[in-house]
Amino acid sequence: MKKFTSKSKEDTAKIACEWLASLDTSGKDALVVGLYGNLGSGKTTFTQAVAKEMGVKDIVNSPTFVIEKIYETKHPHFIRLIHIDAYRLEKGRELQDLNFEELINNPHNLILIEWPENVKEILPANTKKIAFTFIDENIREIEVQ
Ligand SMILES: Nc1ncnc2c1ncn2[C@@H]1O[C@H](COP(=O)(O)OP(=O)(O)OP(=O)(O)O)[C@@H](O)[C@H]1O
Ligand SMILES: [Mg+2]
Repeated sequence: MKKFTSKSKEDTAKIACEWLASLDTSGKDALVVGLYGNLGSGKTTFTQAVAKEMGVKDIVNSPTFVIEKIYETKHPHFIRLIHIDAYRLEKGRELQDLNFEELINNPHNLILIEWPENVKEILPANTKKIAFTFIDENIREIEVQ
């Protein structure tokens, strides 16, 4: 567990880029990451920085209504970034209906999930955790597993 204090959106972006560079790319399945933290704690901001660093040109927003967005990247290993927002979901079952099983079987997928606690029963055992805590208007604590 590594703990960072972010004092700005830019700090969060920097932490996200360093995290991306540190990822293990030898997994046999997708790398699944649960982004924990309250409304406005910085989960989407972190994801946007990861997407940008991976060469995604599209605009990345919280996919609150579509639940899941898939981006093609220019990353040498993770050729797809999948951004899931489980805020509106009540059960993992609803994610399974969006082909989640297939997505987690592909080692070239990096899957970031906001509100992972809503779908906890279907998260793979090796799901990584990043926890965001709102401290004040500009300060966030980010704990990376
Ligand atoms: N240090 C910081 N790191 C990240 N975001 C910050 C920071 N300081 C201020 N902010 C602001 O906080 C907000 C974070 O919003 P963001 O959408 O990333 O949160 P979220 O965790 O995805 O929320 P939600 O659960 O509603 O999807 C943004 O408006 C951002 O500009
Ligand atoms: Mg969000």
